[in-house]
Amino acid sequence: MCGIVAYIGNKKCKSILINGLKRLEYRGYDSAGIAILSPVQNEKFEKTGKPRFQIKVEKEAGKIKVLEDLVKNIDMDGFCGIGHTRWATHGEPSKVNAHPHFDCTEKIAVVHNGIIENYSEIKEELIQKGHKFISQTDTEVLPHLLEEYLKSENIGDLQLAMHKLLKKIRGSGAIVAISTDFPEEIVAGRIASPLIVGTSKDENFFASDMPAVLEHTHNFIVINDFETVRITRNKVEIFNSDCKLIEREPFKVSWSIESAEKGGYEDFMLKEIFEQPYGVKETMRGRLLDGALNFDELNISEEQIKNLKKIQIIACGTSYHAALTGKLLIEKWAKIPVEVDFSSEYRYRSPIVDKNCLFVAITQSGETIDTLAAIREAKSKNARVVAITNVVGSTVARESDSVIYTHAGPEIGVCATKTFSSQLIVMYLMALYFAKVKGFVDGVDYDKIIKEIKSIPDKIQTILDNAEKIKNIADETYKHTCFLFLGRIYGFPMSLEGALKLKEISYIHAEGYPAGEMKHGPIALTDTKTVVVGLIPRDFIYEKMISNLQEVKARNATIFAIITEDDKNISRYANYTFEIPKTIEELYGILEVVPLQLYAYYIAKNHNRNVDQPRNLAKSVTVE
Ligand code: G6P
Repeated sequence: MCGIVAYIGNKKCKSILINGLKRLEYRGYDSAGIAILSPVQNEKFEKTGKPRFQIKVEKEAGKIKVLEDLVKNIDMDGFCGIGHTRWATHGEPSKVNAHPHFDCTEKIAVVHNGIIENYSEIKEELIQKGHKFISQTDTEVLPHLLEEYLKSENIGDLQLAMHKLLKKIRGSGAIVAISTDFPEEIVAGRIASPLIVGTSKDENFFASDMPAVLEHTHNFIVINDFETVRITRNKVEIFNSDCKLIEREPFKVSWSIESAEKGGYEDFMLKEIFEQPYGVKETMRGRLLDGALNFDELNISEEQIKNLKKIQIIACGTSYHAALTGKLLIEKWAKIPVEVDFSSEYRYRSPIVDKNCLFVAITQSGETIDTLAAIREAKSKNARVVAITNVVGSTVARESDSVIYTHAGPEIGVCATKTFSSQLIVMYLMALYFAKVKGFVDGVDYDKIIKEIKSIPDKIQTILDNAEKIKNIADETYKHTCFLFLGRIYGFPMSLEGALKLKEISYIHAEGYPAGEMKHGPIALTDTKTVVVGLIPRDFIYEKMISNLQEVKARNATIFAIITEDDKNISRYANYTFEIPKTIEELYGILEVVPLQLYAYYIAKNHNRNVDQPRNLAKSVTVE
């Protein structure tokens, strides 16, 4: 997710934009830029008496400090401008891909946060009409579209052109534009990405996030989907999806900048857990089109998929648990054998890999050194390498043959939460795609699975709406000294993830286990100080899970069961239950992991841990 700040008012805005961008630095970014409307110097306009404007732009890859130093001695001051920190989605992080982007005439500048799904077809249309593009971004089509509407179609109004643009694009976007022909306004539109207006006396702002402008105003207006907005120095005009002017009063926030960075949540980890409905939607975006699956980015022909002898997945930490889920689904739906290894083990165990093997590396950071080393090993043996990562332009992305970006947005908490649910979505979609190509899934099943995948964001939201229940269970159980997480089949990787989350942030001993293995060792651990967290969805292995629970119940452990809604049966065995919405058995994992993340979070908070930066851990592990 990129950061946006825009200003129009009675102050010179260069430093307002730079400071606003600095306030957004906490979100992570890879490049930044600003564009300011400035009057052309030394020109006389006897006819109109008004100056002619030009847009002065500066952008750079890297830290905002680099941009700040760059613009320090450049004369680019004006009273209206836009700024952007980029978190790359299309095209590597670089100066040319940094925002703002321009139309052909350099009269319109645009910043954008989101993903334009149909940008290639729009780009093609625009190229036919003579437009020239210089970046690899999806965003660059936006100023060109505005140019087209304003010039060729004679729409004499920037806000109307923005309205038309919103109808043309598919995907997500908070889009903000300035134009030399409309020097006294800034126009914006929104589909699915956050956009707010900050309003104050004689000045107004756009921002993706409150911290960007909180030092100037505490009065905000939230912009909704398909609305367009025009701000001038002393007016805010909001237009609904039918382009009708509507009224909306600003609300006042009393947040400090620090709490605003966390969106009002206590920690980034909690914020990121709550961002998952949005994150997984972004992961699906462009890949699930009207029921059809699009995986062009894999860059593998259907013939190659049909001929695959084996898929090898490697990963570390939380990503490894997504890999285990991928194996279950690819083998079940697409019937391709899958091996899963820890990256750190892989290259030391004489693996069998060749050109008929698809090698999939999962890594949220894209920088994990063990994963990188395993990729290099596989490439040296001619395997085709696909990376699944959240960070565009990361080393793993650059060294792989193709990349699937999870698009979960920057994750600041050290332990992975929203990047994990996004990895699971990629696993679901990829397994289904392979099954479809191989003809192993019929129309009815396929439609049903797609429908269920599409319903995941809402189901995660339902779970989050009940977070308080998990908190209460954590408040009552946090003093226990041993936590065993039990699951079977699709629940097993989630039991590992639940235990890992708890270990990482609470420093309490926890283990994830396949429930059937309990009796071969871990059951010896269970006593009154143990909590057993059982994942017991209503699936084909439900009865067996109940037997496994009874075994630990008999040893006086406290039982916390994650169950399917309306399952009244389990309360006989469990001390605590938490209900998750119904889905198909293959997809329960993603719904189970959300309460597990919350449980780990609330237990850690009871122990006063720093959940965003747990001891001894790093977000990006670049040493072996
Ligand atoms: C670190 C992080 C974990 C992450 C693991 C693997 O240990 O703290 O959250 O799961 O690295 O990272 P990767 O970027 O390869 O997914």
